[in-house]
Amino acid sequence: MISRRHYLKYSALAGAATLLPTGLIHAIQHDGLITRAVPKTGEKLPIVGLGSSASFRRLAEGEDVSPLLDVIKALVDGGGSVFDTAPSYGASEEVAGRIVQQLGVSDDIFWATKVNVVPRGGSRADPDAARAQIERSFSYIGKDPIDLIQVHNIRDVPTQLAILKELKEEGRLRYIGATYTGQSRFPELADVMRGEPIDFIGVNYAVDDRSAAAQIFPIAQDRGIAVLVYVPFGRTRLWSRVGDRSVPEWAREIGIESWAQFFIKFAAAHPAVTTVTPATSKAHHMLDNLGAAVGELPDAAMQKRMAEYVDALPTA
Ligand SMILES: NC(=O)c1ccc[n+]([C@@H]2O[C@H](COP(=O)([O-])OP(=O)(O)OC[C@H]3O[C@@H](n4cnc5c(N)ncnc54)[C@H](OP(=O)(O)O)[C@@H]3O)[C@@H](O)[C@H]2O)c1
Repeated sequence: MISRRHYLKYSALAGAATLLPTGLIHAIQHDGLITRAVPKTGEKLPIVGLGSSASFRRLAEGEDVSPLLDVIKALVDGGGSVFDTAPSYGASEEVAGRIVQQLGVSDDIFWATKVNVVPRGGSRADPDAARAQIERSFSYIGKDPIDLIQVHNIRDVPTQLAILKELKEEGRLRYIGATYTGQSRFPELADVMRGEPIDFIGVNYAVDDRSAAAQIFPIAQDRGIAVLVYVPFGRTRLWSRVGDRSVPEWAREIGIESWAQFFIKFAAAHPAVTTVTPATSKAHHMLDNLGAAVGELPDAAMQKRMAEYVDALPTA
């Protein structure tokens, strides 16, 4: 349930009262955002979060980062918490860390970052460099323990995950995991999920990119691994596919008011999914995305209809 403090901040945000449909404000006030439990601990996380590559990264590297302050404020004031970043997303991690501390919301954010120091074209991580990268993440967020660090793109898992396991043992990390987006290395990700004591994975899944549901999610459910969904819009792919079409009326029946909510609700509906983390650089998009975490999620029949609708669209 969103607190009164949060709600007041929320309504005041960037004229949110005029930006937001009244139904959304009421739903957040009354029911809060839909959450899912992290299987290993039962900790509940809102099903919509925020990613920080793509457009977020572009702004983080620009002159004026104030729109990102509005985005992070919208995330927290709207009742969200999960923020996904990585040392390789340019200035995103550093800028977000500064903003979070400036806003005094470190404790409201579930901070998910990554480690990867394998050089381009190489295959081995230097353990000292990996430790130094992780310490930089600690200094950016100013929070110890960090909620989650994952081995980025399953690069040199033996070296980098060993360090994460050690840090978790020392109480400096709450959760550890591994990420991969693509498809060709799903078997490798599956091996890590079966063979290592990880708490989370991050993987690509979208209404037009459903392979993870067949190849990865059953293992996550079987092994009690939480799932962060990456690239739920295919970055620009799904936006080009729907073009200027309106959201179909039958989707509006379950409270879908925008294409972002259509795509996020589809991804969040899979029971293996913990949190969907689209990136955005705009506060009103953040609020739109959080709107996917209120009301109903599509049932199996509706998910099938959504997938068939998108499959029938011409590819851009
Ligand atoms: N291997 C890995 O570990 C890995 C790989 C890929 C991604 N990730 C994580 O997953 C996150 C999400 O993936 P992504 O950033 O690649 O792609 P994405 O979330 O599928 O798409 C982001 C794009 O959608 C736009 N957008 C966001 N909300 C919108 C809305 N409500 N209406 C219209 N447009 C909207 C954003 O532009 P605006 O700024 O205009 O909103 C941005 O261009 C990443 O940021 C990253 O944190 C991890």
